[in-house]
Amino acid sequence: MSTAPTSRRAKTKTATTPPRRKPTTTPWAKVRRSPIHGRGLYATQLIPRDTRIIEYQGERITKAESDRRELKRLAKQARGGDGCVYIFELTKRYDIDGSMAWNTARLINHSCTPNCRTEIIRGKIWIIAKRDIEPGEELTFDYRYGFDSWRDHPCRCGTERCVGYIVAAEYRWRVRKILRAERAAATRAKNARAKKAAA
Ligand SMILES: C[S@@+](CC[C@H](N)C(=O)[O-])C[C@H]1O[C@@H](n2cnc3c(N)ncnc32)[C@H](O)[C@@H]1O
Ligand SMILES: [Zn+2]
Repeated sequence: MSTAPTSRRAKTKTATTPPRRKPTTTPWAKVRRSPIHGRGLYATQLIPRDTRIIEYQGERITKAESDRRELKRLAKQARGGDGCVYIFELTKRYDIDGSMAWNTARLINHSCTPNCRTEIIRGKIWIIAKRDIEPGEELTFDYRYGFDSWRDHPCRCGTERCVGYIVAAEYRWRVRKILRAERAAATRAKNARAKKAAA
């Protein structure tokens, strides 16, 4: 019978595929496309300061596993993949890999002037309102990336204080200093070329 192989395959699939986990939800926010990057989370109502908005969930992994996944991410990025970062530091020994589709908090973008902060409360990562957030505002927090690879993470948050790269607040003055020096060097080189051409 020609339909037998198909139905056998379907049976096997049903038996081995785990049920898809429902995305995490919050009454405070919903998913929409973001002008910063891809999709983001947006306030559905006024969110009072200090509200725990949503938990950043995922798989708890060791730092060694985290390093392995970061290498895989970099390789994917080098091949032209999206290279999104979803690993979140939990403790000195463990991280949370929140790349799973059901972790809705993974969609929150970075801003250099964020309206949320993150806090680890009893082993859970919470996204918390830093101030009152108006309905319709995109939720953002500071990803606090290190200084080592700041050039790999251009920032498109578009806020007045954006440094142009996703890097923790305490390193932004260093990044600004480097960028200022580079701009000055480029201007000097341009002026020198113009002077030479005019001579
Ligand atoms: C955890 S995801 C954020 C969700 C993402 N918008 C999406 O649709 O999957 C993190 C990635 O989003 C991008 N991203 C987040 N904030 C950004 C920003 N301010 N500027 C540029 N890219 C940003 C970066 O590619 C980063 O690796
Ligand atoms: Zn920015």
